[in-house]
Amino acid sequence: VDPTLDIVAEIKRLKKEKNAVILAHYYQDGEIQDIADFVGDSLDLSRKAAATDADVIVFCGVRFMAEVAKILSPGKTVVLPDLAAGCSLEDSCPPDEFEKFTKAHPDHMVLSYINCSAKVKALSDIIVTSSNAEHILNSLPEDQKIIFAPDRHLGGFLSRKLGRDMLLWPGTCIVHEQFSEKELIKLKAKHPDAPVLAHPECPNQIVQHADHVGSTSSILKRALEDPAETMIIATEPGIIHQMEKAAPHKTFIGAPGADGNCSCNTCPFMALNTMEKLYTCLRDLGPEINLDEGTRVQAEIPLRKMLDLSP
Ligand code: 13P
Ligand code: SF4
Repeated sequence: VDPTLDIVAEIKRLKKEKNAVILAHYYQDGEIQDIADFVGDSLDLSRKAAATDADVIVFCGVRFMAEVAKILSPGKTVVLPDLAAGCSLEDSCPPDEFEKFTKAHPDHMVLSYINCSAKVKALSDIIVTSSNAEHILNSLPEDQKIIFAPDRHLGGFLSRKLGRDMLLWPGTCIVHEQFSEKELIKLKAKHPDAPVLAHPECPNQIVQHADHVGSTSSILKRALEDPAETMIIATEPGIIHQMEKAAPHKTFIGAPGADGNCSCNTCPFMALNTMEKLYTCLRDLGPEINLDEGTRVQAEIPLRKMLDLSP
């Protein structure tokens, strides 16, 4: 990319020219969030992708999110700045192995967290995100047997909270697993009045210290509503950008990893998307998300169920 190019101006120009909408997740760099038409959590972004009348969806997030956009809006061109932007939760659930597992438990309903491949979605009955999982689980009969995949921490959190036994697939998010309980306790001792807001992808040893547990959008909402001046945020630090914009007088401290600071908790997959790649992706309308139509159609069923059942 020509270093003299005004990338922000070019992205804005190309967006109009191509009738494109830029959707960004809260874990993206601040400058990407700032140029996006809409920033949100996984559920918000799925709804936007399903409802847009733009011709092109530029998805600034990870690949499974862009795939959701394509599954719900198959007639649109969906592009992702870097096709290598994967997710450790998706990687921890290979479709072939998952299929064997579901076939071994035919009396179980399959609930899958949206952080999985299109093929795993196609093997699922209902998709959930961290903002609707509780509501959707509560709408199912108490004696319904459930497989929950792929995040064992979110699954464990829901099991404990709702008193519901589920068969958990052993996947994890490498970002939320980095938080150190020992360092968090030290930080809390330094800021005894600071509430801890955590994402349910965190292991239980972190979640048990939290005053609020929820999706990125619910963490953001709580951070702005809570009267505390200082807060500890146990999720990917990209979200702090929106908090600082909306409440510049408050202090948001990223929960620490084992080294005592929060820099190791940046999602390496989300970080692959840059302003330069966003520009070239709009200019070239690629890399593009294309799915096998059979998989797309099968994956759309549990995703639509999720949208129908969401509060
Ligand atoms: P939400 O934004 O839906 O809370 O998801 C968090 C996440 O890890 C996305 O990869
Ligand atoms: Fe996947 Fe974790 Fe990154 Fe979210 S933060 S995209 S769950 S690796």
